[in-house]
Amino acid sequence: MMSNRTFTMIKPDATTKGYTGAILDQIIKAGFSVKAMKWTKLTVEQAGQFYEIHKERPFYGELVAFMSSGPIVAAILEKENAVADFRKLIGATNPAQAEEGTIRKNFAASMGENAVHGSDSDENAQIEGNFFFAATERF
Ligand code: RTP
Ligand code: MG
Repeated sequence: MMSNRTFTMIKPDATTKGYTGAILDQIIKAGFSVKAMKWTKLTVEQAGQFYEIHKERPFYGELVAFMSSGPIVAAILEKENAVADFRKLIGATNPAQAEEGTIRKNFAASMGENAVHGSDSDENAQIEGNFFFAATERF
C-alpha cells in the first residue's frame, strides 16, 4: 500500500553546517509538502528513545550522542508514496554509496553523520511523527 506521509529530521551535522535551508528546498522541490515542522534539540534521553530500535547495535551510543549534540529540524511530510519516495530522495545510509543528486550525497559527511533521517515504514512514520507533534501542530 502507498503511504502519503513520512517523517524526517535534519540531523545536527547538517543544521550546524548551515544546510537546513538548502535541504528543505530540495525536499520541497521534490514534491513534498510540510504538514508539521519544528526546530528543537533532543536530550540524550529523547535521542535514546527515538532510536530505541537500534539499542543492541554497536553504533547505538555514538548515534545517541550525535543526535543530541546539536539542533535538529523535525517534520512531517506529505506526498504520494511518501515513505519510499523520501528514502529514494535521501539516498543510502552511507553517503559514499548514495546516488548522485540525493540529499546524503549532497550534504552528508559520513555514515554516522548523514544529514537526514527518513522513516522506513508507514508504521514508523506514524510513531515518529507522534513522538514530536501534537494534533494541534499538524496542518
Ligand atoms: P535513519 O534511520 O537515520 O534515516 O537512517 P537509515 O534508516 O538509513 O539507517 P539505520 O539503519 O536506521 O541507522 C540509523 C542511523 O544510525 C547510524 N548508523 N551508523 N556506524 C554504523 O555502522 C552505522 N549504521 C547506522 C546512521 O547515522 C544511520 O542513519
Ligand atoms: Mg532508519
